[in-house]
Amino acid sequence: MYASNDKAATRPRLTVPQLRQYKHDRTKLVALTAYDASFAAVLDANGVDVILVGDSLGMVVQGHDSTLPVTIDDVIYHTRCVARGLRSALLITDLPFQSDATAERALDAATRALQAGAAMVKLEGAGHKLNTIRFLVEREIPVCAHLGLTPQSVLRLGGYKVQGREAAAAQRLRDDARAVMEAGAELLVLECVPSTLAAQVSADIAIATIGIGAGPDCDGQILVLHDLLGVGCGHRRPRFVKDFLADGGSVAAAIRAYADAVHDGRFPGPEHGYGG
Ligand code: KIV
Repeated sequence: MYASNDKAATRPRLTVPQLRQYKHDRTKLVALTAYDASFAAVLDANGVDVILVGDSLGMVVQGHDSTLPVTIDDVIYHTRCVARGLRSALLITDLPFQSDATAERALDAATRALQAGAAMVKLEGAGHKLNTIRFLVEREIPVCAHLGLTPQSVLRLGGYKVQGREAAAAQRLRDDARAVMEAGAELLVLECVPSTLAAQVSADIAIATIGIGAGPDCDGQILVLHDLLGVGCGHRRPRFVKDFLADGGSVAAAIRAYADAVHDGRFPGPEHGYGG
């Protein structure tokens, strides 16, 4: 608890423009969520490139059944905490439910996120959000888009279900992926979509995709930290989750094992993906 971290061994800070280089070089991006400084420091020191202060904090930290109760004040608080633990990883902050309902609201929320230490904000969906993405990017705010299962749409979707299985929905997702890129997004999270569709989207677009329940052919992978460590407060464990702590022996070893498995293409395996 009182030891200081070794500054000499750190990697240079990952920047937004370098995300495209990862895709070009076919180097997998290793991403995880974090919500506090101590875990952020362990992730940063053990090969995680991108850290997301996800609105999943509503479920895994606050104990809610969805991400809908999370507020912009909540994510700003956790962004400040995580930023203090980081040296090298790129920090993304989620814009929580309705904080991006209009472009102006999104600008206020995103400005607070960047002032709290984030380098990028993530927002869910396409449609009217394309205008918001453009509005933010034109105002120097890097954006990560999020398509497929968008948890803030849980009420409309009727649950946490795989998206893009039917041909029309798959085509819509491919069109949306191009549209968010053309609007200026520099990264795209694909959640719970068939592995073949995620592979097509990743081949279609010039920006890196980060998959969660989206098969092995995305340009990177992300998990919720608590899922990777096998801890939770009773929520159903999705199919795409793997408990790396079970074999890892320590939190640091589990994170390192996850990073290595993503780099080597051992995670996710076929058992973690969805068919079309
Ligand atoms: O909120 C979150 O943690 C997320 C990831 C699951 C991608 O959006």
